[in-house]
Amino acid sequence: MIRLSVLLSLSAALLLTVTQIGIRSTPSVSISISHAAVPDQGARRQARERLGKLLFFDPLLSEPAGTSCSSCHDPAHAFSGTHGSAIGVPLGAMPGSYGLRNTPTLTYASYVPPFTFDKEDDPLEPKGGMFLDGRASFLDEQAEGPLLSPLEMNNQGRAMVVAKIRAHHAADFRAAFGADVFDHGERYAFLAVGAALQAYESTATFHPFSSHFDRYRRGAYRLSAAESRGMTLFFASDKGNCSTCHQARISFPKVVPLFTDFGYETLGVPRNQRIPDNADPAFVDLGLGGPKRTLPNDDASFNGAFMTPILRNVAVKEAFMHNGVFAHLEDVVAFYATRDTNPAHWYPPGHPFNDTRPGDLPYVNTGVPFGGKPGGKPHLSPQEILDLIVFLRSLTDQEFEAALPPLPTLREVEALTSPGPPLQASGAAAH
Ligand code: HEC
Ligand code: HEC
Repeated sequence: MIRLSVLLSLSAALLLTVTQIGIRSTPSVSISISHAAVPDQGARRQARERLGKLLFFDPLLSEPAGTSCSSCHDPAHAFSGTHGSAIGVPLGAMPGSYGLRNTPTLTYASYVPPFTFDKEDDPLEPKGGMFLDGRASFLDEQAEGPLLSPLEMNNQGRAMVVAKIRAHHAADFRAAFGADVFDHGERYAFLAVGAALQAYESTATFHPFSSHFDRYRRGAYRLSAAESRGMTLFFASDKGNCSTCHQARISFPKVVPLFTDFGYETLGVPRNQRIPDNADPAFVDLGLGGPKRTLPNDDASFNGAFMTPILRNVAVKEAFMHNGVFAHLEDVVAFYATRDTNPAHWYPPGHPFNDTRPGDLPYVNTGVPFGGKPGGKPHLSPQEILDLIVFLRSLTDQEFEAALPPLPTLREVEALTSPGPPLQASGAAAH
């Protein structure tokens, strides 16, 4: 659970970071109190949001030009996407450049609390943070990731980004951050880029709360029979048990069901052989355990753990899980149901958990909906898997409903859960 005291001290730390580098008024920060406690900052705030939007869609900010934030975070797909890649992880600005991770939707990302160890838990439990391994908590770190990563927008340093802003957005930039914004060095100006993007990403465009589920909560929509069955399965501890990790009751500052507890778990997701780095059999993306971050203590249980994602708008994504190994939502739910009862469907023959190092196997989660022996009965029937998919689709905001793929048929779900050819050949569903 996210505790009030933890969040308050973190927000104080964030303010300190921001004042240290001299931005006078608090940018709209990534934690939920910004929506409640920060008073309207009027014209300047709006100027930042407008500028942030311009930057978000500006293809001149990559090297070479052509890739903007929106290339991967496509507004039609709830700000997620592959940038035309067919391998589950997005294509970067450079031809043939692919990272390790699938693009998360940016909807509701402004509610993710900064990375922390939940000190009241034993052993120390990591929570929150941006990116699938929580490695960024603050504005500058967050913008630095995509803008400077050679596999994403590929700028060679902050100075290059600031020069582009100066050339194309100087007037808007000064209006948003003050006439002297370029006078304090490139780190300051670069941080302001992050603040503008963050201001835009914190606007209601990114959290409309307009899904069937939200309207149902407001008493303005009646769930269909399948949505209602799916919701019950989602919360039932002997069925989906999804809500143990994808919690709906995190309540700060008020109840905002995001379907995550911001915790980290190892699920033993199949290896995505199409990721270039995975051509090296010795390479494994360990999430919290690296390679993209290091933690102060090297608890082995962190190896292979990724943050439990927010499930709002998940049904309009084009790839699923940290490595994008699944191309369809039905693969994900069927994987939960039959990872242990029908491993032959998910892993190459004789290699269950083929993206988990043998020494890390004890940390793979085996609670419901996982569990059972090969050939045994899954906790979820094909009809129940379908009902869960219908419920997940009900978490789609109205603005993104046009991107919902067709609902699979019961036969297609049955084909996924019965013994069949392994997934690894294509990495996509067997239909
Ligand atoms: C080439 C594709 C690509 C581009 C371009 C891109 N991103 Fe991303 N974005 C990703 C991927 C992939 C991740 C997940 C990375 C990880 O977890 O290691 C991500 C993660 C994020 C996150 C963290 C979300 C969360 O919930 O953890 C934010 C915020 C973000 N991107 C914002 C941006 C912004 C702002 C830009 C433009 C400056 C941008 N991205 C450009 C692919 C991209
Ligand atoms: C033990 C905790 C846990 C349980 C239980 C759990 N999940 Fe997850 N879920 C996760 C984690 C962690 C990930 C990310 C895993 C990764 O990428 O390696 C995830 C990923 C997902 C994704 C993909 C999201 C994306 O953006 O790619 C979906 C969909 C999902 N879960 C739905 C469900 C459903 C439905 C259930 C119940 C049947 C469920 N989960 C049960 C922890 C859990």
